[in-house]
Amino acid sequence: GYFRVPVRLTLREGRPILRLLDPSRRDRLPEPVRVAVLASGGGTNLQSLLDRFNAVESPVARVELVVASRPGIGALERAERMGVPTATLSVREMGAEAYTEALLAELDRRRVGLVVLAGFLQLVPLAVVERYEGRMINIHPALLPPSGGAGLYGMRVHRAVIESATRVSGATVHHVSEEYDSGAVIAQWPVPVLPGDTPEALAARVLATEHRLLPLVVEELARGGASPVQRFTDPVAFDLVPRSGPAEESIRGLMTTGDRGQGTGDSLHG
Ligand code: GRF
Repeated sequence: GYFRVPVRLTLREGRPILRLLDPSRRDRLPEPVRVAVLASGGGTNLQSLLDRFNAVESPVARVELVVASRPGIGALERAERMGVPTATLSVREMGAEAYTEALLAELDRRRVGLVVLAGFLQLVPLAVVERYEGRMINIHPALLPPSGGAGLYGMRVHRAVIESATRVSGATVHHVSEEYDSGAVIAQWPVPVLPGDTPEALAARVLATEHRLLPLVVEELARGGASPVQRFTDPVAFDLVPRSGPAEESIRGLMTTGDRGQGTGDSLHG
């Protein structure tokens, strides 16, 4: 075998100059997209991103900031464990104006290219939504739009789905717009509602899907730059869907390609 030594050939006064590139530097690859995660809870969605992009250095994306809406949450512990900078900003304590300024300052300071809301229960100030138009996403533990909207979060979402007697719930990653859960859908992944499901059982099944879906969407966005139309063609790929029988057929029918997001085509590279 042979090994490749990164070199750069340049001409100076007509004479070829061969320069060895320091293999440890990544000047050949664009910088990984710098991701900020906003969280209010245990941070298991954050963890799925840390496992994918930070545990082993990824050339595609990297979590560079975690913003918590209050102190003492699991998401902060998970960030600290991975050495990711954190900020705890409470709009109640700071007031809307100071909160908005502080949030924008933190995002700018870390040169964030993509903002991910993962279990974030605070409304994002309009100025921040506008600054990150097409580069801010949220993961919602149900299929949108049927069961989205203000006030439907946590167990309430799953209770509403069970009460509506639909057979399929799911996880949705969508762009963030000024109202709750109403930005363009980027990707959805249906999850069966099983007979006798309690809200807790359904929540756990959907959460396991979220942990698969979110890193895939972040990876696609980071690679694509704009908002891809995301289609996961093979439900069984997630091993979360019954391998045969009617549920799978009805689920296949539910696959969405998501709307073309408002992706302004802005690169996520800051
Ligand atoms: C998840 O169900 C997420 O979909 C919802 O809030 C929950 C957050 O869980 N937005 P975690 O904090 O990521 O564990």
